Amino acid sequence: MSERTAHQKVALVTGANKGIGRGAAEQLAALGMTVLIGSRDPRRGEEAAAALRAAGGDVHAVTLDVTDEASVQEAAKQVEERFGHLDVLINNAGITGSGQVSPEDAYDQVPSSVELDMVRAVFETNVFGVVAVTNAMLLLLRRSPAPRIVNVSSHAASLTITADPDGPMAALLPSAAYSPSKTALNALTVQYANELRKDRILVNAVAPGFVDTDSNNHTGFLTVAQGAAVLVRLATLDADGPTAGFFGDEGPVPW
Ligand code: NAI
Repeated sequence: MSERTAHQKVALVTGANKGIGRGAAEQLAALGMTVLIGSRDPRRGEEAAAALRAAGGDVHAVTLDVTDEASVQEAAKQVEERFGHLDVLINNAGITGSGQVSPEDAYDQVPSSVELDMVRAVFETNVFGVVAVTNAMLLLLRRSPAPRIVNVSSHAASLTITADPDGPMAALLPSAAYSPSKTALNALTVQYANELRKDRILVNAVAPGFVDTDSNNHTGFLTVAQGAAVLVRLATLDADGPTAGFFGDEGPVPW
């Protein structure tokens, strides 16, 4: 391994061929990191990587389906062979489960009538996928002098906010799938942070805000760049930065 490679920061962003993940990839590349675009579809991953390379970034595609253990293991092998280590892991890949509808319209997630398969599928990606990817990448993260893990959660994960009948999320339909999956992701964030604190691996959850992407049929009011900013901030924390926290652009988000 060359001297340059040994000191070059490498970031992996899952589900980064589009949306907020792609925005984060673009910003991390602009900071000079080597950025790996995790994408289920190799063609879409390569298209996104090529576009960001054309803008001057050192960006590469890695095929990665977070729900497929073989794909996760193969991605970890590829990252090890091509880059040797990882400094930043952003667990961004996520699904609403309701297709391209805004959370206000996710009638198929209302607790009393939700299909259990929907709940399972959403947890498979948003929660179990994060465990699979994080564990597969930990060996590579441990080779970094300052590893950072960012789990992309949501304000809809906050029990404090969602339990308030007059709160900012009161207009959302009750959800048995998406919101609980992100609450579980927050819980997982704290448990990983607690385990990895002694190894100085900082692990935090972020809420990007309501961002204009495919996942809400472009009803969000923030740009992808605005939504991605908080991912990048937590991915580039100094050594004395927080761990086991939950942050939005506005600051700490209540659990
Ligand atoms: P998006 O639909 O544009 O992007 C999601 C990405 O995840 C896509 O690239 C998709 O291919 C990928 N993905 C889905 N399942 C995958 C799997 N099994 N393996 C690998 N990749 C997979 O949506 P968006 O909005 O950019 O979402 C990114 C993250 O931000 C998600 O975790 C989402 O829950 C979260 N979020 C989004 C908000 C918004 O307003 N857009 C608000 C709060 C959280």
